[in-house]
Amino acid sequence: MDIREEDPCDGADIGNLNRRAFGGDAEGRLVDRLRVEGLTITSLVAIVEGKLAGHILFSEVVIETGAGSVRAASLAPMAVRPELQRRGIGSALVRRGLEICRNSGYSIAIVVGHTGYYPRFGFSPEKARPLRSPFAGPAFMALELTPGALEGIAGTVIYPPAFSMFD
Ligand SMILES: CC(C)(COP(=O)(O)OP(=O)(O)OC[C@H]1O[C@@H](n2cnc3c(N)ncnc32)[C@H](O)[C@@H]1OP(=O)(O)O)[C@@H](O)C(=O)NCCC(=O)NCCS
Repeated sequence: MDIREEDPCDGADIGNLNRRAFGGDAEGRLVDRLRVEGLTITSLVAIVEGKLAGHILFSEVVIETGAGSVRAASLAPMAVRPELQRRGIGSALVRRGLEICRNSGYSIAIVVGHTGYYPRFGFSPEKARPLRSPFAGPAFMALELTPGALEGIAGTVIYPPAFSMFD
């Protein structure tokens, strides 16, 4: 398996992959909007035998706190081709993406997703509790990319308009 940044030729395949994995258009449209709005931190594709097997995107959100704004990396969406799931492709994409976010200067990552999946990477609903979000609840999780980054941080996560289709 090869993991690399998406390139312009991948756009249609990424849309199709998201449609197949989620059974709808919303996630593919989210990728397109984040790309167009220039909010992507990293958009990675996993290639197996020359074909797109998985995709993950991290984009920038802002946490408005009483003491100013803090940038954070939001993981969404992520998809692996149904017939290739449960082989570690998703995990490899998450780990590579988190490393890129850390190396790009982000110290906090957030996700709204499966509570049985994301904690294995360090995401936790407890860490996200001081954060208000339109997607608050047990599926809303946060992770420190640098130790202690969430200490004393309380505030509201401001998602870009691209996410309003999921409100
Ligand atoms: C979630 C997803 C990206 C994981 O990719 P993957 O390549 O299968 O993941 P990995 O092989 O690294 O990990 C497999 C683990 O994910 C778990 N997993 C997959 N889907 C899950 C779900 N809906 N809820 C909880 N855990 C899930 C599997 O149970 C497996 O756990 P195990 O290792 O304890 O057996 C993939 O299942 C997918 O594309 N699902 C449909 C789209 C989706 O739900 N995207 C995420 C939105 S938050």
